[in-house]
Amino acid sequence: MEIFKLGETAKKMHVSPERAKEILDENIVPNIKKSSSSRETYYVPQMMFDYAKSVLGLEKDKEFKKLVIEPETYRRFRNRNGTKVVSFSNLKGGVGKTSIAANFAYDLALLNKRVLLVDMDSQANSSRYFANRYFVNESIKNIFDRMTRKESVSADDVNEYIVPIEFENAELDLLPSELSLGRIVELSRSVFTLPHKKLNDILKLVKENYDFIVIDTPPSTGLSLHMSLYASDLVSIVTDAEDFSVNGLNELYLEIKELAEETDHDVKVDSVFINKIKKSNIHSVYIEAIAEMAVNEGIENVYTIKDSTRFKESQNLHIPLIEYKKELEKKLVIAESMLEYAVDKALEA
Ligand SMILES: Nc1ncnc2c1ncn2[C@@H]1O[C@H](COP(=O)(O)OP(=O)(O)OP(=O)(O)O)[C@@H](O)[C@H]1O
Ligand SMILES: [Mg+2]
Repeated sequence: MEIFKLGETAKKMHVSPERAKEILDENIVPNIKKSSSSRETYYVPQMMFDYAKSVLGLEKDKEFKKLVIEPETYRRFRNRNGTKVVSFSNLKGGVGKTSIAANFAYDLALLNKRVLLVDMDSQANSSRYFANRYFVNESIKNIFDRMTRKESVSADDVNEYIVPIEFENAELDLLPSELSLGRIVELSRSVFTLPHKKLNDILKLVKENYDFIVIDTPPSTGLSLHMSLYASDLVSIVTDAEDFSVNGLNELYLEIKELAEETDHDVKVDSVFINKIKKSNIHSVYIEAIAEMAVNEGIENVYTIKDSTRFKESQNLHIPLIEYKKELEKKLVIAESMLEYAVDKALEA
């Protein structure tokens, strides 16, 4: 990934470093800023530079010169076609759903999108990824709880459980989960005639506040997954490249299609992340099989991500992958595919 520092960015924009700093500080060109007591360093991946140009409708780099920073400029970063809901799924556990969902959500936020990250897994890993705490009796579970008791739920009720998370360069909202979510979700099966619609009902109440809603799903089939799929426009499949990964993928794919037919809600599988790829050749045969399946199913985006300890480090430090290294250049490779997917979706929306 090509990355520019302040001087290079200013040159590309044909503006002074002071003016470039202003544009970067306003996040009109999304960037990653590292501050220490003595200095500030700005990093702008080429991908984000091109994204800003495209959203702002600038044909040439020179046009940054006449860019006026006003409320209208920010509005251009809002989705033109309403909120998009994206789920990250696999029936298999430990493949990287949570890591990729959380980082994708963060990257969208970095791109000036208003993002809600919804944790539908009672393990609550995506709740803790950025929040660094447990949510007990203050999660999406409480909203389901109200619903199963046939109490009405308003936008205010949902907002009560949404947690804003502030980073140095962006902010996003989290609707956390907790261990007892699974039980409450299953309970809704016996309470409602159409239980799979219930997450959608919840999200509908707050949808207008967001450009993207990103859902992290549990590693199993069940109502939680069905609710997530029903609420989604897009599904991204996350997999590893091991024996049986392809079988698992076919299984999930069938389940998605069946549910779409049963519920009359078409959800599009539009990407596959093949994660945790090790250097050895063992993986290549599985990667090929997964990529072939994706092509046959008309899945447009196939990304590969290497096995890297940075994932665990970023999770332990509660910092997005793209942010946690002080010196970012050359080290962002591991976060590139998630950023690429975010840019792609942000431009489409
Ligand atoms: N590319 C990678 N390289 C190395 N470790 C990774 C990679 N991606 C994820 N991990 C690690 O693997 C573990 C499982 O990842 P994660 O929690 O994202 O998977 P998951 O599919 O959400 O799991 P679950 O099914 O339990 O919800 C975590 O410790 C994470 O840091
Ligand atoms: Mg997970």
